[in-house]
Order: sequence, then structure tokens, then C-alpha cells
Amino acid sequence: MISLGCDHGGYELKEAIKKSLEEKEIEYKDHGTYSKESVDYPQFALAVAESVAKGKSESGIICCGTGIGVSIVANKVPGVRAAVVGDVFSARATKEHNNANVVCLGARVIGEGLALLIVEEWLNAEFQGGRHQDRIDLIKKIEEQYSKR
Ligand code: RB5
Repeated sequence: MISLGCDHGGYELKEAIKKSLEEKEIEYKDHGTYSKESVDYPQFALAVAESVAKGKSESGIICCGTGIGVSIVANKVPGVRAAVVGDVFSARATKEHNNANVVCLGARVIGEGLALLIVEEWLNAEFQGGRHQDRIDLIKKIEEQYSKR
């Protein structure tokens, strides 16, 4: 299951991603927004990030104008590793090395064709573990340190 979310800037791209996932018979849940009407991206990014962090979905894709705002929000949620991706090499690398469980796309930065290729590459790539897992464990330690009140 893949969680999808967007703001108004990413709405059309999210719809294109939905169509592409349907063609591949990949299950998804759409957390909105559901139109091009202006909205605040944090709530939609949070819905996707929480769904991934709670294990309700394996991964998430969030679209906004740049991909940046939604990535900042998603990375506040412990357990989420969200990457803004604008090229196919990074799409593969962020799964292989960072085990990114959320990809953030900038609809005003990249075209639909590239965005769909990025999603495909990221979904098909596999985490390589080993030294990369050690680094993710270090990220987790930082998260835990800053989660203490
Ligand atoms: C909305 O205008 C825009 O700020 C948003 O989509 C995103 O780019 C924020 O990072």
C-alpha cells in the first residue's frame, strides 16, 4: 500500500501518479487534497507521513510545488525518511542507500513524465543494507535524542 498526498500545487501530478499506479495494479490510499483549491500542505504531508510511520502503508509519495515543504513536514515524523527527488539516479540511490520510505516531488520543478519515471525507479529499487543500515541506525539515534522531552 502506498500513501499519496499533495497540496494544490501537486494535485495534478498526484492524479497522474494515481493513474500510473492503477495501471500497474499497485494499491494506494489518497490522503488528499482533492482539488486545485489552495490549501496548506502540512496537514496532507503529515497524513502521509503518519500512515507510513504507523505501518499502515509501506511508503508514501507527496507532491507540492517544489517537493520541499512536504519533505520538511514528513521528516518531522519519527521513522520517516523523506527525500525530495528530481532525477532518476537519486530515485534509485535514495532507496538503495537511505531506504527512503517517502518520496517528495515538485510539480512546478519536474514534468509528469520524469516524475512517473522517478516513482517507478524508486519503487523497483531495493535497500542495500549493510553500512547503509548502520547509517540509518545513527539517524534513528538522533531522532530518539530529540524526541526526549
Ligand atoms: C504552494 O504555493 C507552495 O508553496 C507549495 O506547493 C510548496 O512548493 C511548498 O514547499
